Amino acid sequence: MPEFDHIKVEPTSGVLGAEVSGVDLAHVDDAHFEEIYRAWLEYQVLFFRDQRLDPGQQTQLAARFGELDVYPFMEPLPGYPHVIPIVKEKHTRSNFGGGWHSDMSYTERPPKATMLYAVEVPTHGGDTLFASMTAAYEALSAGMQQMIGGLRAVFSATKVHGASGYYQNADHPMAMKKNEAQESARFLHPVVRTHPETGRKGLFLDAPHVDRFENMRTSESLPLMNFLCEHATSPQFTTRFRWRAGSLAIWDNRSVQHYALNDYPGQRREMRRITMKGDVPA
Ligand code: SIN
Repeated sequence: MPEFDHIKVEPTSGVLGAEVSGVDLAHVDDAHFEEIYRAWLEYQVLFFRDQRLDPGQQTQLAARFGELDVYPFMEPLPGYPHVIPIVKEKHTRSNFGGGWHSDMSYTERPPKATMLYAVEVPTHGGDTLFASMTAAYEALSAGMQQMIGGLRAVFSATKVHGASGYYQNADHPMAMKKNEAQESARFLHPVVRTHPETGRKGLFLDAPHVDRFENMRTSESLPLMNFLCEHATSPQFTTRFRWRAGSLAIWDNRSVQHYALNDYPGQRREMRRITMKGDVPA
């Protein structure tokens, strides 16, 4: 277990996730930040409780993890170009992020990290699930690891943001914005990527954003894609976070998938999200 002098770190499962205490995220000195960053690389997703962050303070904190990114399909909070509001109203049925995925994996440089802060949460429900793609990769047989080692997949936003995609048909209260260039873009990423900081290999493919494998038809790709996506999100590779107002999570989007549960009909949930720029997966 890694050692920390300034923060308390309690793992939330045997594979990923840790709750961190002993820090006020509005005022993080360098010594605390160094440990937080180290814990983040180790545990892949960190959770903090009882924080009070306005959008400006959240932006400043996020910028310490990396250069800030912009979400292509939603209007940000006025005055905060990097902060997107993720809101489900009492009367809406569909939610945002309600399926296993990696954020913006359909871009050329998918984000390194995502930071999510809870403003208002339901009395029960609305948890987020996280899955470790490194644990999922390491659990595959040597033969499967070898077979998928050189495989690349075609990523796009079409299934989710395209003309007949999920968000076009959702009864969604959020200001989703059209972005035709991003909708029609296609990028090839390796199905097994090496984490640029830890050197660990992990699976990199998420069902909502992957169309098929390179040089293969969709029908040829689907059986293996389905197997890998199901395997990657098996319960033994996951942890689950129950939000309270003032909770904050930051996950490593290079090695984690997540799933926002939609199990709180009639209740409101409001979060603020910031993503940090990543590199081209390799
Ligand atoms: C997301 O997919 O980024 C949203 C996660 C959540 O609201 O729990």
